[in-house]
Amino acid sequence: MDAMTLLQERRSMGKLSGPAPSRDQLDAMYHAALRAPDHKELTPWRFIEFTGKGLERLGELFADAEARKTPGIDSDTLDTARKKPLRAPLIIAVIAKVAPGIEKVPKQEQVLSAGCAAYAISLAAYAQGLGAMWRTGHYAFDPTVREGLGLSEHDEIVGFLYLGQLGGRHRRLTERDPADFVEQWQ
Ligand SMILES: Cc1cc2nc3c(=O)[nH]c(=O)nc-3n(C[C@H](O)[C@H](O)[C@H](O)COP(=O)(O)O)c2cc1C
Repeated sequence: MDAMTLLQERRSMGKLSGPAPSRDQLDAMYHAALRAPDHKELTPWRFIEFTGKGLERLGELFADAEARKTPGIDSDTLDTARKKPLRAPLIIAVIAKVAPGIEKVPKQEQVLSAGCAAYAISLAAYAQGLGAMWRTGHYAFDPTVREGLGLSEHDEIVGFLYLGQLGGRHRRLTERDPADFVEQWQ
């Protein structure tokens, strides 16, 4: 796939099946991620890969988050939370590992850099014929989840990338006209 087609046609895939991306496919995705723009080469990125029992552990963490947020919550809601990560054979949590107090590189830039890394993983997945879905839900901002994943005070979860084989057809591309978004100062 040529680069312009990739950039102009990438789409998300919510329906994902096994097997999980291979080690080689994952390495290609991480190499793409590590080319994210990075002011002052802070490499503000951390990736956690979840497969198998790891997905179940992540589901437990989501359920713990619900339970801590809403004491006495019903078991159906807990079960739903527990099952969320099982929608893909592999998830990568992309974390902005933020170094505070760096001159000229405020937190926002470091989080954006991690966002670019997440996007690069999605692109590299699509380019390899894999499906990817970037999700945050409320879990990415939840204190229980943050603590469970070992984030420090300044870190941010930029997303959970659900990855796997295409489990359905891609949605039709939404036509968007650059003219609706672009202003010109001449
Ligand atoms: C930071 C971020 C968080 C997102 N979180 C969710 C989410 O929690 N649930 C969801 O259904 N889509 C979420 N999305 C949107 C999907 O990843 C996807 O971009 C959207 O469904 C549009 O599909 P497309 O990428 O094929 O255009 C998120 C996107 C971004 C950039």
